Amino acid sequence: MSDIKNFDRMFRLNGKVALVTGGSRGLGLHTATAFLLAGAKKVFVSARKNEGEQGIDQAVEKLNKLPVSGKAVGIASNVADTDAIERLVKEVQKTDEKLDILVCNAGATWGGPFDPTPDWGTQKVLDLNVRGVFNLTRLFAPLLEKAGTRTDPSRIIIVSSTAGTTVPHVGEHGTIMYSVSKAAAHHLSRQLAVELGPRNITTNTVAPGFFPSKLANGLIENLGGQKSLEDHNPRKRLGEPEDIAGVMVYLASPAASYVNGEDIAVDGGVRYAAGRQSKL
Ligand SMILES: NC(=O)c1ccc[n+]([C@@H]2O[C@H](COP(=O)([O-])OP(=O)(O)OC[C@H]3O[C@@H](n4cnc5c(N)ncnc54)[C@H](OP(=O)(O)O)[C@@H]3O)[C@@H](O)[C@H]2O)c1
Repeated sequence: MSDIKNFDRMFRLNGKVALVTGGSRGLGLHTATAFLLAGAKKVFVSARKNEGEQGIDQAVEKLNKLPVSGKAVGIASNVADTDAIERLVKEVQKTDEKLDILVCNAGATWGGPFDPTPDWGTQKVLDLNVRGVFNLTRLFAPLLEKAGTRTDPSRIIIVSSTAGTTVPHVGEHGTIMYSVSKAAAHHLSRQLAVELGPRNITTNTVAPGFFPSKLANGLIENLGGQKSLEDHNPRKRLGEPEDIAGVMVYLASPAASYVNGEDIAVDGGVRYAAGRQSKL
């Protein structure tokens, strides 16, 4: 037998405090749900809107009905705006002097043909997906540092996309600057792994393929609909909540303490499937 300590706690988040940006719906809500089910003490969920069918309030209400002792707390914040991020840090500090897990998940996309690309589309995507993520990590680093230890570092998880490593869509429904922003997110994560590792903070990237969501549904339709994308995927389906839950809990848990600067694609392997179209 080898000397593996605390295996029963290896995939648990007992007692941890997390913040998930874009936690009101989609992948962020799957992540917040999974963290609470894995034993987290508190999960802050942030997004811009409190009200409405997809706002923070309904998400927090659902999360607080889970059969767990951990609690969800909502904070409205536009994480493309640096002043708003500073206020978000202060809000968290009102109740918690430390943060164990920061998930930079809120993201924006813009798609359309190359020549008439409006500059506001590029700005929106870069402000949230790159500059906003950088500022979130920079301004939360002191709270993360307080929570991290040599054996159990705090975690930054950046939600990128397989679009950060492939050239997924050009032409009429092109998403060039989205793809570029996600490539930047991948490299930001590697930089932070080296910068913040000595402060007992690890940084990794999760790169999803298609998961039905408000952000993705328009593009899924433009590309021929869910069935056609499923047919093209080696696993014959799109992503489901459990697929994100598993990788998020793993990266946030003691099992991933020594994983730093990695990106994990969660796409059923479809990013490698170009070869199936080959006529050679
Ligand atoms: N779904 C996919 O197929 C897919 C694939 C690859 C990568 N991703 C990435 O996964 C992440 C989540 O996407 P999703 O599909 O779950 O999208 P979604 O369902 O549309 O959710 C986006 C979340 O981000 C919040 N948000 C948007 N802009 C914000 C801002 N400026 N400040 C704060 N919060 C903001 C939204 O709430 P408010 O609107 O109220 O602010 C919402 O909570 C994104 O980074 C996306 O690029 C998704």
